Amino acid sequence: MIAFNNGWEFVPEWTDAFGRGEGAAQAVRLPHTVKEVPLHAVDEKAYQAVSGYRKRFTLPAGKRFFLQLDGAAHIATVYVNGREIGRHNTGYTAYRVEITDAVRPGENLVAVKLDSTENPATPPFGFVIDYLTYGGLYRPAWLDAKGEDYISDVFVYTPDLHTAAVQVTLDQKTAGAGNAVDVRILDAAGHAVAQGQGAAGGEIRLDVPGAQAWDLDHPTLYTCEVTLRDADVKTVVFGFRTAEFKADAFYLNGKKTYLRGLNRHQSYPYTGYAVSDSLQVEDARILKEELGCTAVRTSHYPQSHAFIDACDRMGLLVFTEIPGWQHIGDESWKLQAVENTKEMVLQYRNHPSIVLWGVRINESLDDDEFYARTNAAAHALDPSRQTSGVRYLQKSSLLEDVYAFNDFSHTGNNPGALPKAQVTPDRSKGFLISENNGHMFPTKSFDNWARLQEHALRHARVHNDALQDGEHAGCFSWCMFDYPTHKDFGSGDRICYHGVMDAFRNPKLAAAFYASQQDEKPVLEVTSSMDIGDYPASVIGDVWLLTNADRVDLYKNDRFVASFSETPFANLPHGPMPMKAENFISEWGDRVTEWRFDAVKDGKVVKSVTKAANCALRLEATPSATLLTEGDTYDMAAVRVRIVDKWGHTTPFVQPPLLFEVTGAAQLVGPAAATAEGGMGGTYIRTVGRAGKATLTIRCPGLETVSIAFDVNQK
Ligand code: GAL
Repeated sequence: MIAFNNGWEFVPEWTDAFGRGEGAAQAVRLPHTVKEVPLHAVDEKAYQAVSGYRKRFTLPAGKRFFLQLDGAAHIATVYVNGREIGRHNTGYTAYRVEITDAVRPGENLVAVKLDSTENPATPPFGFVIDYLTYGGLYRPAWLDAKGEDYISDVFVYTPDLHTAAVQVTLDQKTAGAGNAVDVRILDAAGHAVAQGQGAAGGEIRLDVPGAQAWDLDHPTLYTCEVTLRDADVKTVVFGFRTAEFKADAFYLNGKKTYLRGLNRHQSYPYTGYAVSDSLQVEDARILKEELGCTAVRTSHYPQSHAFIDACDRMGLLVFTEIPGWQHIGDESWKLQAVENTKEMVLQYRNHPSIVLWGVRINESLDDDEFYARTNAAAHALDPSRQTSGVRYLQKSSLLEDVYAFNDFSHTGNNPGALPKAQVTPDRSKGFLISENNGHMFPTKSFDNWARLQEHALRHARVHNDALQDGEHAGCFSWCMFDYPTHKDFGSGDRICYHGVMDAFRNPKLAAAFYASQQDEKPVLEVTSSMDIGDYPASVIGDVWLLTNADRVDLYKNDRFVASFSETPFANLPHGPMPMKAENFISEWGDRVTEWRFDAVKDGKVVKSVTKAANCALRLEATPSATLLTEGDTYDMAAVRVRIVDKWGHTTPFVQPPLLFEVTGAAQLVGPAAATAEGGMGGTYIRTVGRAGKATLTIRCPGLETVSIAFDVNQK
């Protein structure tokens, strides 16, 4: 496929004349948002419009031509050379359409009339929604040139760890052309490890003795290459793995694997849904490496292939689902939801990371007739994966294979999770928590320490209690980061402060709870700055250690005070450890008290944290990358900013202005001035169509300026 992202033109309001190529318009590249928005108080009306995109192009070699829009939010009508080609409903799955009959030699014009309004005719619309649904051609676009006969689809699944079951679909115009295809399985180095022949339309099974399984530690990928005579070749990437939810747990390759997950929206400050593939990859990296998650739920819609590809490569399990939020519309709306189910399964079924299809509208009421259809659609197109659907209802009708339940029962002083027997009507089927916390305890990065600590502990309690009875396959918490929303939700500034990270993916304390559950790298976070002045009556109370070490030794001004290794969280891999308040009494007037916490693992200090009053503030900026690539379209870097003290700790109540400036081969995305919130902030830069060097300068009054140098390559 040929990338089709550059050279588009955009108008915020569609006119038929624009669609015919008349008049001036703004030059844009995809991914594109119809409207850049502020961080706070985003009015959803701002991006609700019927806008226009168009692009002039000439044809590459080929006989048949296809246009593919990976993300068109939300109803796209496509015209080629003034002729209406087709329409796609719902903005979370790709639209692929043949344009052969409308194109001609020389210059062609494609135009897209894009309805980004909350049109109740299509999911997820029709009632309220707790997230924003930004408009735009917000994912990549493609032009595909084919011969008369081509391979339209290849699906590979692995019924066991050494068999590749390959289903090939052809689209042929030549009368009497055969349907024989050659199939090869290639390893990561490109060596063929198996090959065979078969007929498209049926299933071709290849045995691959010695295949390396795809798992969380070794997410080994293979390529399946299908050849149709000399007419076409198609490759898809897949992994050898089995995935099964049983009554007690989830089994990956037969091994019990707990899904420690977070819910992810696909939104970003300023550009909404529209970011480079590299930032999608960055979110997967953050989930896996920084948050130590084993799983992610793509709430509440299928997300970009760049993100899911990264989950495939990194070994992160995915629960994805059809678009929707609580509301079920009329029969034509339901037909669209069934269509969305088919598109989701057809477009995503080769990803080894996806282990479960969500075939119900998130948190909707029972509708057996409707959900029998979505469930059947998913099973018909994918014999290898189980289905589920997210509910807030207990004992609701269970047509699917796994009961996914939003368990918001935890209120601080009660158990973290309800027992399976109380929730599901069928204990013989799999069970998981699809959401918890969230609106039960909104927490801002600039909240006080006690609240940030309780936020982290609530996440710990839910996971601990989900593990208690050995019947939860996993637990996806709400949610990865703070997100903008509609008027019915959020904290008044239209933000749901439900994240374990802020909108820029800066961690709150709760993030350290997740990070501390993995064993790859040492984690120690202390849930207080140890300043008595932030607590009622100057009493700090219990402080918690979020760590994966065996014990933590506390020193006061280098004098040993106590060791901590006990945790009340018996079921977690690494339960938070409480430190009783009496262990850390500061004396007024004394020299500054330095509290040092040494995390000890296998007898060695693996991480040391010092907390002490100090005013030595410093600006720190961490880019997602400093090497950017101008390729099929622009590239972006996310830059996370923190104001840290002498010991490297975020200073949550230091909230000065941050001033951003970019020079060279990139531009700033979002405002040039922002406020550090909770001592943290962020910005984005985007390449501008040429190679070269770029510099981002971040100024903050009173602090030393930080500059980041970027190299922009041309692919
Ligand atoms: C759930 C819903 C999520 C989010 C969450 C907040 O009910 O499925 O989308 O709104 O509540 O806690």
